[in-house]
Amino acid sequence: MNLADLNKVAIAMTANGKGILAADESTGTIKKRFDAIATENTEDNRRDYRELMFRTAEAMKSYISGVILYDETIWQKAKDGTPLVKLIEQAGAIPGIKVDEGTKPLPNCPGELITMGLDKLPDRLPKYYEAGARFAKWRAVIDIGAGIPSYAAISTNAHALARYAALCQANQIVPIVEPEVLMDGEHDADQCYMVTEFMLKETFQQLYYQKVALEGIVLKPNMVVPGKKSSKKASVQEVAEKTVKLLKACVPGAVPGIAFLSGGQSDEEATAHLDAMNKIGNLPWNLTFSYGRALQAAPQKAWSGKAANVGAAQAAFIHRAKMNYLAAKGEWKADLEKKAA
Ligand code: 13P
Repeated sequence: MNLADLNKVAIAMTANGKGILAADESTGTIKKRFDAIATENTEDNRRDYRELMFRTAEAMKSYISGVILYDETIWQKAKDGTPLVKLIEQAGAIPGIKVDEGTKPLPNCPGELITMGLDKLPDRLPKYYEAGARFAKWRAVIDIGAGIPSYAAISTNAHALARYAALCQANQIVPIVEPEVLMDGEHDADQCYMVTEFMLKETFQQLYYQKVALEGIVLKPNMVVPGKKSSKKASVQEVAEKTVKLLKACVPGAVPGIAFLSGGQSDEEATAHLDAMNKIGNLPWNLTFSYGRALQAAPQKAWSGKAANVGAAQAAFIHRAKMNYLAAKGEWKADLEKKAA
């Protein structure tokens, strides 16, 4: 492992306001997104949609540091035959790859999940590196509900995250370590705080046990937010302060960058929260975005599967990417959204 190079990539992924486009929806997940815009989930449509984003020069060059791809996309070619990975590289962004194989029920833990995909990973990683991937992603999912999460779910998922991270580094690939505490439930922000704290502490313990070099990872956590069905809402400032306090308590300064998931927040909430955290300032790591939905919902809607709408979709993508870039520098203002509308 060349740690200096891993560190360089991890910094490039998270520095100077740039953030990551999470375009790694599995074929099943992108179907849900396409259903919402009445677009058929064909291989060509998936390619056309992703190609339009990767060809959005302004967003890709100025605001996006890297793109997380799904297995299909990393091998796919644009309509003119150019590999999609090349489009990303030509725009100056770094290609990455989702390597987990989704979740399965965790035995003896009703309602809880374990992320799959470790068995063949040592064989798959060198192929992804050869295809151009310089970072990878693995998502663990922790749900909050009656009697959950269990310690079994927290510890097995943290263990798998660290196994994945160590394998990535051995193959000269920066692991995005994503322990996602879901925001689906009725819990309030303080319960989210407690569960996320437990999950992060356990994850960093496992990373230590498994000799993962923190200088060569990117952490992708959830923010401290109330569940969607909670009656207790939290202000932007409260979310920002609680999330920064939590991360300072759990994430060593050796980690170069933290790139949040959006997790079901609205586009503007995800931006406002990131901005408020960066306005607090004086943080030991870069704090940026690695959004899927909060970057893509607007361009998807504008595109709606029609070639005639590509320009509008690209404009929507530029706008969201720029807002999040400003937020990652703590320079976003709400009226920039209204002006654009
Ligand atoms: P969201 O921002 O839509 O949560 O997606 C990010 C991601 O990569 C989830 O694994």
